[in-house]
Amino acid sequence: MKIDTHVHLLVSKKQTTPDIQAINYMLDIARTSQISALCITEHIESVGYDNLMHALFIDNRLHAEIFPEYILTRQGIKLYPGAELQIANGTNIGVHTSLDSLLQLNHNAGAYTLPELYDALSSHGGWFALVAHHIFWPNKTYPDHDELARYVSAIEVPAKDLDNVEKYLALSQKYGLATTGGSDAHTYIQIGACHSVLSESEYGEQHPLRYAFHNNHQYHYFSDFSKRLVEMSKIYRATIMA
Ligand code: FE2
Repeated sequence: MKIDTHVHLLVSKKQTTPDIQAINYMLDIARTSQISALCITEHIESVGYDNLMHALFIDNRLHAEIFPEYILTRQGIKLYPGAELQIANGTNIGVHTSLDSLLQLNHNAGAYTLPELYDALSSHGGWFALVAHHIFWPNKTYPDHDELARYVSAIEVPAKDLDNVEKYLALSQKYGLATTGGSDAHTYIQIGACHSVLSESEYGEQHPLRYAFHNNHQYHYFSDFSKRLVEMSKIYRATIMA
């Protein structure tokens, strides 16, 4: 299965309510690329974060089929709740856990250090996993890699930083961590530009990342076309935000 583990469905942190039509279009495009699952790692500090999560996973505005850990849209794509959370030093961490646990987190940017985030999620109970998002991107780095590796389960290989792929791979190998592929898409153009490829049988009905992270496999995938998608998306996003 192809899963994009880093997806935004709000165009910006200032968008208050989700655009259901635009989301459906994004899912249509994802389907044409045979993507079968998306982790909705919206910025938790976005003003529209709770509105988005409620619209998708509680109010079922996509008219999806609802399962305990995900919804299955009419495009046949599984959506998993998640968040991208900016910790105190500016690093962005992908948070994968239940919707309840996500909604309980402090939504303010910089509210947690990485150990504090881990403790907060542990105190909620249940399964969770953290991913280091675009960890070599300027101002998003984490100076202490030994500490980072104690708390994250995977290192993302990000579509927007493919010139540095070797750095991401070296970090994952040094600490025996899995890699994930994330597009960081805010538009339909970038969806799946980098994604993860998992075996369907590995996880059954449960969150695929539960099992993916039990080993240090490299799950990320990208193509020659990925950089072009990122650049085209940048241009398109600027026009819709203008
Ligand atoms: Fe992101």
